Amino acid sequence: MIAVDGISLEVSKCEIFGIVGPNGAGKTTTMDCIVSMRRPDSGFISVLGLNPLSQRRALLKKVGIQQQESELPDRMKVREAMELFSCFYGNSTDSTEILSRLGLSDKTESFFSTLSGGQKKRLFVALSLVGDPEIVFFDELTSGLDPQARRSMWDLVRGLRDDGKTVFLSTHYMDEAEKLCDRVAIIDRGRIVALDTPGSLVRSHAFALSVVMGIPDSFSEIELESIPGVLEVFREGGNVTARVRDSSAIVEIVKLLVDRKIELGNFHTEKSTLEDVFLKLTGKR
Ligand SMILES: Nc1ncnc2c1ncn2[C@@H]1O[C@H](COP(=O)(O)OP(=O)(O)OP(=O)(O)O)[C@@H](O)[C@H]1O
Ligand SMILES: [Mg+2]
Repeated sequence: MIAVDGISLEVSKCEIFGIVGPNGAGKTTTMDCIVSMRRPDSGFISVLGLNPLSQRRALLKKVGIQQQESELPDRMKVREAMELFSCFYGNSTDSTEILSRLGLSDKTESFFSTLSGGQKKRLFVALSLVGDPEIVFFDELTSGLDPQARRSMWDLVRGLRDDGKTVFLSTHYMDEAEKLCDRVAIIDRGRIVALDTPGSLVRSHAFALSVVMGIPDSFSEIELESIPGVLEVFREGGNVTARVRDSSAIVEIVKLLVDRKIELGNFHTEKSTLEDVFLKLTGKR
């Protein structure tokens, strides 16, 4: 089975770069190859000018990695884990400050086994920062985190970029990719299907706006389809949604509804998001 097939990408310094894709798309495999945890069958990878396979040790000193699934011994304390990782890097970043940034200050003397799932995840992020890395790799950075912890993780990632670091992350959350990443690669079945800034991806692959209307069944939505600028109309869950090219089509829709004296139960517009692009390109729900 081919997990990753001909992926080619370049990430700039101080960039937050995200890869998004469905389960099994090849995100973890791609990241593993980049950080020397897996040997690709072919291809060329350079990270900070280093070859991950032949210069693995040098590379691992310069990057931080939070893997999708990690474990530590049950009876290791948070503080001890931080100390252990510091030894590997041979430098002295301020562990206290890192733990505080990740909301773990009151857990320094706790055993790993007593941490909640989200706290474990935050600990692995803290450990990835111990060596003051130039690039950090976060695989599924915020899965399993509560909404507040997710937001503060986003702030942390932005802070890393502001400190001159480069962030390479994978995520399932489209809103996360859209709000957080400078550029995003959408991958599906081991291939990149699109790569650009979130804004450009939405502009080039999705409808500009959707108009959602609570219209009685008696009104045939076919009438809406004939309005210039209306690209698609469908009925779903009691609402009619019209995908439109721009806001001038909305004016025409409203005129038609007023003209037909339609009593609206609901009327609002939605901007297209990266999720729409993702669904369109991967055909997945
Ligand atoms: N060690 C392995 N041996 C065999 N197949 C593997 C191995 N690791 C991954 N695969 C397969 O390679 C494909 C890509 O897996 P990968 O873990 O990279 O996906 P992913 O995009 O990270 O998915 P997820 O969102 O679920 O984490 C999957 O079909 C998976 O089953
Ligand atoms: Mg994965």
